[in-house]
Amino acid sequence: MACIVVVGTQWGDEGKGKIVDLLTADADVIVRFQGGNNAGHTIVFDGQKFILHLIPSGIFHPEKTCLIGNGVVIDPQVLLGEIDNLEAKGVSVPPGHLYVSERAHLIMPYHKAIDHGREAKKGKTKIGTTGRGIGPCYEDKIARRGIKVGDLLDEELFKAKLEEVLEEKNFYLREYLGQEPLDFQEIYESYLEMGKRLAPYVTNVSLELEKARNRGAKILFEGAQGTQLDIDHGTYPFVTSSNTVAGGACHGAGVGPTTIDFVLGICKAYTTRVGGGPFPTELFDETGEYMRERGGEFGSTTGRPRRCGWLDGVVLREAVRLNGLSALAITKLDVLSGLNPLKVCVAYRVDGERRETFPANIREVERVEPIYEELPGWEEDISQVRRFEDLPQATKDYLRWIEDFAGVPVDLVSVGPARDQTIVLRNPFQR
Ligand code: IMP
Repeated sequence: MACIVVVGTQWGDEGKGKIVDLLTADADVIVRFQGGNNAGHTIVFDGQKFILHLIPSGIFHPEKTCLIGNGVVIDPQVLLGEIDNLEAKGVSVPPGHLYVSERAHLIMPYHKAIDHGREAKKGKTKIGTTGRGIGPCYEDKIARRGIKVGDLLDEELFKAKLEEVLEEKNFYLREYLGQEPLDFQEIYESYLEMGKRLAPYVTNVSLELEKARNRGAKILFEGAQGTQLDIDHGTYPFVTSSNTVAGGACHGAGVGPTTIDFVLGICKAYTTRVGGGPFPTELFDETGEYMRERGGEFGSTTGRPRRCGWLDGVVLREAVRLNGLSALAITKLDVLSGLNPLKVCVAYRVDGERRETFPANIREVERVEPIYEELPGWEEDISQVRRFEDLPQATKDYLRWIEDFAGVPVDLVSVGPARDQTIVLRNPFQR
């Protein structure tokens, strides 16, 4: 398979970073297509720890090309900070090794101020955003008043756009959110300066992808967040502001649907969610605590403790349908050792009625009760197992159950954070 999209099947934090890092070995080009620095993963390279929010982990391999597509929203300060941090630690990031789309929208200081101000105003009903200005930036994109990476390279255009938009933002900040207005000159000068540094990286990413395809390159599209955080198909309004499903790779990178050969869904062996919003299989007892402690379930971007619960088959089937999944990678299976029996949610009950899909109405979602099936658990530590055959019978049965219920094969199983703690049944790039 030449073009693979990797997506999260739940509410993000499924361990996509590790699987992407693993598949990167076989890819020539790695592309981000949505989200921004609300995502994040930690990579250990040459004994040094790196936290990347925007740049794909392919950056550690000098022969690979890393692209940030038009669908991503970019905080230039964060992007330049990542480049500086990599270079300070000896990882070279020259233009050509990294490219950024001229059409990607910029996260501006007012986006962050509005994100914070709105959440504070909402109080108990807040979404629990990462506070990075993601939603307000996408809002401006759709409202046709956003500022793009390419605009920074045209001083006059940038000035005119910023003047117009800042007047409105300052009114909103001051009058509605009760915040301090922002200074035009400060933003103008600092962004122009950052634009100059970014200029050599700016290109037409869609065109780069076409060239890559023409030379037979293997392309990995790296999704951020997860299916249930999708702006259209997730648990709205408790979602992020982009299309996290596989289709987002097309418009977020500038390729047609026929480009995609394979969609790999990353699914944690249980479920977690960070921030507010519905989570039918959430556990508030010691089992949830066990998952959080053993799984180290604390957000990599905000450090917030993640909510934990049983695997949700309804969510899984939604992910299969919404992404057109070709296969699954099951992550963090080792965390479930010692829990017996295991529960899996097979359907919901809403007001006494059985449901096989997620209700769209948020008030109905709040009344969802999970219907569970029990499966035998296992006591053994599986973190050193490298072959499917060597797993305990109950672990194999759990994986087979997932395959049967989802209707797609499990190609990879992760049993620990290290790259080699992975059981590869089939490598999607070698299929
Ligand atoms: P935003 O993307 O910062 O606007 O946050 C909206 C919702 O998406 C919040 O519930 C966040 O916690 C969640 N979210 C955003 N990015 C991630 C991620 O990378 N992993 C998990 N949850 C995320």
